[in-house]
Amino acid sequence: MSLPSPTPLFAPEAQTGSEATDLSPLLRPLLQLFSEEMVQVDQILCQALSHPTDLIPQVGGHLISSGGKRLRPMLLLATARLCHYTGQEHLKLASCLECIHNATLLHDDVMDQSLLRRGKPTAHRIWGTPASIVVGDFLLCRALEWMTEIQSWPIVRLVNAMATKIIEGQALDLALSAQLDVAEHTYFDVIHLKTAWLFQTACELGALLAHHPHQDNLRRFGYHAGMAFQLVDDILDYTSTPEILGKNPGQDFQEGKITLPIIRALAMGTVEERGFWKRTLQQKKQTPEDFETAKKILSAHKVFESVGADAQTHLVAAQHALHVFPSCAIKDALADMLSFICNQLS
Ligand code: IPE
Ligand code: IPE
Ligand code: MG
Ligand code: MG
Ligand code: MG
Repeated sequence: MSLPSPTPLFAPEAQTGSEATDLSPLLRPLLQLFSEEMVQVDQILCQALSHPTDLIPQVGGHLISSGGKRLRPMLLLATARLCHYTGQEHLKLASCLECIHNATLLHDDVMDQSLLRRGKPTAHRIWGTPASIVVGDFLLCRALEWMTEIQSWPIVRLVNAMATKIIEGQALDLALSAQLDVAEHTYFDVIHLKTAWLFQTACELGALLAHHPHQDNLRRFGYHAGMAFQLVDDILDYTSTPEILGKNPGQDFQEGKITLPIIRALAMGTVEERGFWKRTLQQKKQTPEDFETAKKILSAHKVFESVGADAQTHLVAAQHALHVFPSCAIKDALADMLSFICNQLS
């Protein structure tokens, strides 16, 4: 595989994953508002991959050029502009966040033994686990190094703390797998750390760059959006298809992940059902039919509806956090992005 193309990666037609054709209409307003900046963000991302060792551009380029929704950099660009930021540092910072996100995906796919990401075979399947680990480390460290060039201690502190939180969340996620008695609050802590922290930091950075007084509101907006995002992701792992997700559903079940749908089904389940979860998730003794049975049990207890309702509550809170900002196209586009999160369930 050759070096990633220097042409903009973000153009939907340049994407080859399943999301290329399915970019939700609800994400388009955000993309339209920031398309020019996103091209620059992607050019900086390409530079992050440049290295004389073939492995880094190959493995990193495989994932990054497969697209993805680029939600986190778009959130940073949107919140910076909402706060009337007029400088140029947001572009580098947005690239750093997407770079960190991609580093965590390389590692996450090793941890979760996932085979499909953004509609393509995962990097560890092609180049092996050591390559995915080392390139993920490289991307993470390069992003943190680049971020210091902005020469702002508050930014350095915020992004470094975020990187630690994400990894802490991933470590906890790993520690909790196959444990049947996970409390809901523990699950919420984990998804805050591993997912919502990056969303909240992206939004907070927009305000921080602009020295805007409503930093807390934007952090809250990002936190609630991120919580909803992971709640929905955990439902989709049972209800979606590879064509729509660009990743294989059933991954959480296969890995014995105790996500909120499972926690709720366990709380309401019969003795027989508990035996089923114990065998499949704790002992990881699974037959090819078990995933279908799992979905039937989850549906019978209406857990997708109840977890979806939690996601919806977070989205309402996210929307509320924006009330301090006057109506404008960016605010509308952010509202559409919130709708996109829950719309994935319909
Ligand atoms: C995947 O995030 C990881 C989770 C937090 C669930 P995205 O769904 O935003 O991944 P891409 O970047 O669009 O592929
Ligand atoms: C991933 O959570 C969160 C991070 C990458 C930090 P998941 O393991 O649920 O993400 P997907 O479903 O593989 O994208
Ligand atoms: Mg995963
Ligand atoms: Mg994971
Ligand atoms: Mg998932």
